[in-house]
Amino acid sequence: MTGHPLTTLPAWAALETHASALREAHLRDLFAGDPDRFARFSFTLGPLLADYSKNRVTAETMGLLMELARARDVEAGRAAMFAGAHINTTEDRAVLHVALRNRAQRPMMVDGIDVMPEVRSVRERINAFARQVRTGGWLGATGKPIRHIVNIGIGGSHLGPMFVAEALRDFQQADLSVAFISNPDRAQLDDALAALNPAATLFIVASKTFTTAETMFNAGAARTWLVDKLGESAVGKHFAAISTNLDAAAAFGIPKDNVFPMWDWVGGRYSVWSAIGLALTIACGPEAFDQFLAGAEAMDRHFETSSLDQNLPVILAMIGVWHADFLDSPAVAILPYDHRLRLLPFHLQQLDMESNGKGVMTDGTPVAGETGPIVFGGGGSDSQHSFFQLLHQSPRHIPCDFIGALKPSRDLLLANMFAQAEALMIGRTDANLPPHRRFSGNRSSTTLLLEELSPYALGMLMALYEHKVFVQGLVWGINSFDQWGVELGKELAKSLQPALTGGALKGRDSSTNGLIAAYLKAKSGTKAGGA
Ligand code: F6P
Repeated sequence: MTGHPLTTLPAWAALETHASALREAHLRDLFAGDPDRFARFSFTLGPLLADYSKNRVTAETMGLLMELARARDVEAGRAAMFAGAHINTTEDRAVLHVALRNRAQRPMMVDGIDVMPEVRSVRERINAFARQVRTGGWLGATGKPIRHIVNIGIGGSHLGPMFVAEALRDFQQADLSVAFISNPDRAQLDDALAALNPAATLFIVASKTFTTAETMFNAGAARTWLVDKLGESAVGKHFAAISTNLDAAAAFGIPKDNVFPMWDWVGGRYSVWSAIGLALTIACGPEAFDQFLAGAEAMDRHFETSSLDQNLPVILAMIGVWHADFLDSPAVAILPYDHRLRLLPFHLQQLDMESNGKGVMTDGTPVAGETGPIVFGGGGSDSQHSFFQLLHQSPRHIPCDFIGALKPSRDLLLANMFAQAEALMIGRTDANLPPHRRFSGNRSSTTLLLEELSPYALGMLMALYEHKVFVQGLVWGINSFDQWGVELGKELAKSLQPALTGGALKGRDSSTNGLIAAYLKAKSGTKAGGA
């Protein structure tokens, strides 16, 4: 693009030239030519080992990428975030999820006010509430202790906490169950309710805005179920809420002692560290949650204080920019080799695609070309037997993130993980083989190994991805913290719903009209179910 502030940078031009020179280089040869490649391109930080040596980069590539990062003022952007500047420009908000894991308690300012006293006091309330529920001190309306937690939320109020709860399942209190409900089709909620004793159930309505249609529908349905079983007066003992919209939570009937605030400087997809992590804190305990925060805090310190070229989130971010903008890689595959981590792709999908799936820069002008990648993935073992074929032999180059834990030892699992990364890298180009059995190889991957799946290591891993996404947003010049692209669909759904519930069918396009007519025809013969 001519005259674009990004692509006219000398560092950009240098990367383009370098990319055409490197296009023919094969990772196999880069390894053969440099026995120290693993040592050069890997990184250990606490319990996290990051091996990025199997990416199509050289020392020169990394040098040029760091020049680009510097030219895009990544250091200043990073400082602005930690200083509480309003870097979410379209919503005029600070972005300070790092304050939630600031266990060192240094002051963190938003609009001249230190937010830490309030962060601390809400955390203390969350921990006290969690302890009461865990020990059976919090009694339901009939005097029974709570044994089932149902988190009702969607997006960041669902994906992050659900992923972490599953990842830390081994840390959960054995006599407590946790369920996460997001889908307003009724099937998900009804399945969960069928197994629950209302007298021992606590619903947590997790919604930053307390207006999200799906969450409000499910919360209302859960409330009706509870009131049917235990009466209206039971609501106060069986519902808690997390929101910035305290009035709406009160209007729902939730006593203020069970309502935990969050702040507009915490974005939904960055909110698991806030009271949105309440279900987790109850299930795993305040001590485990504190370790989760501690891991993220360690990554924050590393990100904030390390020079760009020694900075893991920056390194991984710039390799991602390299793939997206210079190697035409449209997507990233997230491949956890651990059953407990299988929901990570869903969390990262929202984190990355809602943050960086943007078409304009912060000044309103179009972006240079590629921004955030398509993020997809799944449990590594299952995915090997499903979409890995495309990763290995499609003409598309899709970089992969392999994620696993070293402990406990699982030979078959880890052998497969290492082998897949190796196969993507070396390929099989033996000329004696028929073409359909050949693999070009030269496909990039990064491997992230946790010492073990502990709350601390998990906190580090999640914060690593958060900062990676942020750095990429800085390079592309976009606001990673808004999500205006989700608004139109929400508005249209609101205006369509009356037609689906029997109101007049207002003229839309013929496709939408045709689909509504089909729905109404089916509905006239059936009873309505979900939202
Ligand atoms: O529609 C997108 C979104 O706004 C996400 O950014 C957010 O995580 C999700 O909806 C849920 O929002 P809330 O927590 O306000 O219900």
